[in-house]
Amino acid sequence: MKNEELASKKRAVELYDSGRINEFEVGTTKGLQQIHRFLFQDVFDFAGRIRDVDLAKGNFRFAPVIYLSDTLKTIDNLPENSFDEIVKKYVEMNVAHPFREGNGRATRIWLDQILKKRLGKCVDWSKIGKEEYLSAMERSPINDLEIRTLLESALTQDIDDREVYMKGIQSSYDYEEQSEYDVHRLFDE
Ligand SMILES: Nc1ncnc2c1ncn2[C@@H]1O[C@H](COP(=O)(O)OP(=O)(O)O)[C@@H](O)[C@H]1O
Ligand SMILES: [Mg+2]
Repeated sequence: MKNEELASKKRAVELYDSGRINEFEVGTTKGLQQIHRFLFQDVFDFAGRIRDVDLAKGNFRFAPVIYLSDTLKTIDNLPENSFDEIVKKYVEMNVAHPFREGNGRATRIWLDQILKKRLGKCVDWSKIGKEEYLSAMERSPINDLEIRTLLESALTQDIDDREVYMKGIQSSYDYEEQSEYDVHRLFDE
């Protein structure tokens, strides 16, 4: 079994540098599956595949499997015309949590693709701390004000800056306790 953090971080860099990310659908379940499959192709046998087990974190139960395909169709059709609508769509996709593992890391890339396309902006994740991010996401199914405020404060127009993406990957993995490898030195290992 390959090291999950190292192998999938390398794929995250490749996803950007190869331009593959620009070939994927934006704002749909299919596009999220494409991102997930690419990132986790070396480490999860379920990479890109919608889960068939129920999942919970803390006290929160994500969308039940029996409703998941309907939930995802509804999310695909949610509007993305404003920052608020895009955040709501992101929150709903987190509530759906379509994969057994890797939802956080894949869905943050998916969110940035929507923000780039619709607003010409993306999130500079290096400006958002782990504890504040996770507590805002825990709160988000009930009230999205905290996550909306946090994401808004970290928006940048530097959407073509490779370093914004790389630092973002580093932070995104930090949120998930995967901080052993520096995204800038992966290929020295
Ligand atoms: N209690 C919670 N309620 C709602 N969402 C949560 C909760 N805890 C974590 N999350 C969200 O789930 C993500 C983690 O999902 P997970 O499938 O484990 O992804 P990864 O493997 O990339 O860590 C977090 O980044 C956060 O966005
Ligand atoms: Mg996880």
